Amino acid sequence: MLDGEVPFFDLQASQPLAELAAAVQTVLASGRFVGGPEVESFEREFAEFTGARHCVGVSSGTSALQAALLACGVGPGDEVITSAATFVATAAAIVHTGATPVFVDIDSQTRTLCPARLADAVTPRTRAVVPVDLYGHPADADAIRRIADRFDLAVVADAAQAHGGVYRGRRVGTLADATCFSFYPSKNLGALGDAGAVTTDDPYIAERIRRMRDHGRGSSRDSCTVAGHNWRLDAIQAACLRVKLRHLQEWVTARREIAGWYGRELGGYGGLLPRPSADVEHAFHLFVVRHRERDFLRKALAVAGVATQIHYPRAVHQMEPFIRYAPREPGSLSGAEQLAKECLSLPLYPGMTPAQVRRVGQAVAEALPS
Ligand SMILES: Cc1ncc(COP(=O)(O)O)c(C=O)c1O
Repeated sequence: MLDGEVPFFDLQASQPLAELAAAVQTVLASGRFVGGPEVESFEREFAEFTGARHCVGVSSGTSALQAALLACGVGPGDEVITSAATFVATAAAIVHTGATPVFVDIDSQTRTLCPARLADAVTPRTRAVVPVDLYGHPADADAIRRIADRFDLAVVADAAQAHGGVYRGRRVGTLADATCFSFYPSKNLGALGDAGAVTTDDPYIAERIRRMRDHGRGSSRDSCTVAGHNWRLDAIQAACLRVKLRHLQEWVTARREIAGWYGRELGGYGGLLPRPSADVEHAFHLFVVRHRERDFLRKALAVAGVATQIHYPRAVHQMEPFIRYAPREPGSLSGAEQLAKECLSLPLYPGMTPAQVRRVGQAVAEALPS
């Protein structure tokens, strides 16, 4: 990296190395590498952080989604409604339960599942809805809950990008029947490898996931009640997640502060900035601006030494494995398709400095003279 360049992401400020090394050392000394006290303590502490009654640690955000859907009774013949603007794993998890994903459009302000479109998409086969807290913006949980209750649907939230988000005073993790988190290293709370978790207030859902993640076994090692999976969380990841969880609130606060700096820096470019709903405290996993000339802007920023990414260049129903689930009516997912054409993720990570945000602002100003 040259002097003055702004990386897209820098993990260093959110890696308390000495604390992590001590946590790994504890696990090495214990000899318990899968499950055990570190996993149980992390589950207790993450449940406490979110305010949920139960947390079940699993091997990734994708296994969290699949386990939560199965625990809510989703299976072959069912339809599961989700947002067309998401990472492919949301749709893949639905497909792997044997259910059919049904994509609905986003609300253009929040970029999350549009509740009015949700109601229109329900059929007698609909079993569940998966709202996605895209980029860290919590979905409209109360409106979604009202529709889910009307049609008796389970709500399984995909909060892989929203650790620390808040909706109407309630933390993400408590807003659905089951909430799925990813702890992929670059997430707001990231492990040192793959990991995930489901939070829920429902002891039945928690128990089903516990069984499913461990080969269908219950409290006895020798009994097996369902054909399960190996979706267990390992102890080294749990120990490291416990260390990082102690810093999570401070890192989410830093993300919000940096988003505020961007707001001041780029406020003159009307449609560019994200406009979070007044109902939420955004978790700002990603800071995603929109521009019609996105590819031009991206190239100009790259020349100026500002790294950017695109989340995601196509809506999920435009990705090969999911094209067959795209709705027949043209234009019904135009909000998600337009977002895919215009979105650009700017650098945002704990440890980013005001000077770096100014540097990004200058690069935008040079690219888009007003
Ligand atoms: C919205 C969303 N859902 C699901 C996942 C899958 O999580 P994982 O990579 O931990 O399986 C991700 C991770 O990138 C995600 O961003």
